[in-house]
Amino acid sequence: MKLELLSIPGNVRLARVAVAAFVAEVDYNVSDLEEIKVAVSEAVSNAVTHGYQQKPDGVISITATLFAKSLEIVVQDQGKGIEDLEQAFEPTESSDPERMGLGFAFMRTFMDELNVVSESGQGTTVLMRKKLPGALQAES
Ligand SMILES: Nc1ncnc2c1ncn2[C@@H]1O[C@H](COP(=O)(O)OP(=O)(O)OP(=O)(O)O)[C@@H](O)[C@H]1O
Ligand SMILES: [Mg+2]
Repeated sequence: MKLELLSIPGNVRLARVAVAAFVAEVDYNVSDLEEIKVAVSEAVSNAVTHGYQQKPDGVISITATLFAKSLEIVVQDQGKGIEDLEQAFEPTESSDPERMGLGFAFMRTFMDELNVVSESGQGTTVLMRKKLPGALQAES
């Protein structure tokens, strides 16, 4: 699935619903599904709030791909970018004092892999991967 959404706050919900529909065929349990939805919401909400700084005409691209053993979700913006990634990853670290700074912590906790590439002024790409339920069973 590849979606392009404008950077308006209402589209955070649209992204979450679309990804949930995309993974409906996978037999994730309810809590896995919730985790995926939260991770997507956090990534898209970051693109809207921080990447495009509330400007509504930015484009956020969201791709979701099912591989043999994992679900991959990529959220990409061409916004402001992140100057100091290490600092941004610190839980409770936010460039906005009104925020909790927990978005990346949720993405990292809820997904099996989180990979962020960002360049100041160029934008941000967030890649997240979660094992499919079958892949989880195979390991345990
Ligand atoms: N897409 C992005 N573009 C630019 N900066 C970003 C982006 N995503 C995250 N950041 C930066 O990384 C910081 C940490 O992000 P994180 O989601 O963990 O916390 P937050 O968004 O500040 O707070 P919360 O997610 O709890 O509302 C942000 O404060 C912001 O400075
Ligand atoms: Mg956030």
